[in-house]
Amino acid sequence: MNIIFLGPPGAGKGTQAQLICQKLGIPQISTGDMLRAAIANQTETGLKAKSFMDAGQLVPDEVVIAIVKERLQAEDCKAGYILDGFPRTVAQAVALGGIADIQAVVNIAVADEALVKRLSGRRVCPVCGAPYSVERLAGQTQCAVDGATLIQRDDDKPETVLGRLTVYHQKTAPLIDFYRKEGKLLDIDGDQDAQAVTAAILTALEAK
Ligand code: AP5
Ligand code: MG
Repeated sequence: MNIIFLGPPGAGKGTQAQLICQKLGIPQISTGDMLRAAIANQTETGLKAKSFMDAGQLVPDEVVIAIVKERLQAEDCKAGYILDGFPRTVAQAVALGGIADIQAVVNIAVADEALVKRLSGRRVCPVCGAPYSVERLAGQTQCAVDGATLIQRDDDKPETVLGRLTVYHQKTAPLIDFYRKEGKLLDIDGDQDAQAVTAAILTALEAK
């Protein structure tokens, strides 16, 4: 199955995509993680993306569409994949429609107030991108998978988080109607504990 995970910053797209990809044995394709890796490796894409990401703005459509197009051609995508954080604009969704057959769009909904709290308490692994929350870490500072020291993302600072939410409402939220009209949207309440969210997503996907 080719699946999109849609939702505002902090909704739990990365958390859920990682769990469900493991379960289904398909790759997680996170444009945010790919762009952060490009910045770390100082590639041409990374240089183009950095200022937009630091400011909490979207990276230009043509840059993101190009990296997704290339990634979807890889062998491991043949059995299906989860797109985490792409598409994020109507132009990206239209471009994706021309290169991929998407069966389901999982829309993870969480209220803005809860998102601000989650994002300011998030720490991530700089190696695998796995997200953690400060509350649950209880003082632990390393990734359970890689042992790498967890960091705070630059765009998780409070002033940038509010800007990212505004960008989401203006540019990405219209995709909810876009995919609802195509009959692909699965509405998931993301404001419950992570295990309950996983169960709700799996149930919705099975019924699809
Ligand atoms: P990206 O990396 O995709 O960030 P985002 O969409 O803002 O989403 P996040 O990763 O912040 O949130 P998430 O939904 O994955 O939540 P998570 O699981 O981590 O994009 C970053 C930037 O890259 C963008 O701003 C843009 O510049 C650029 N970019 C990326 N894609 C692009 C595109 N297509 N077009 C243009 N530009 C693009 O969870 C968040 C926190 O909450 C964690 O601490 C987690 O532990 C906790 N949590 C998760 N689930 C729960 C739960 N159920 N209850 C309580 N806490 C929870
Ligand atoms: Mg994410």
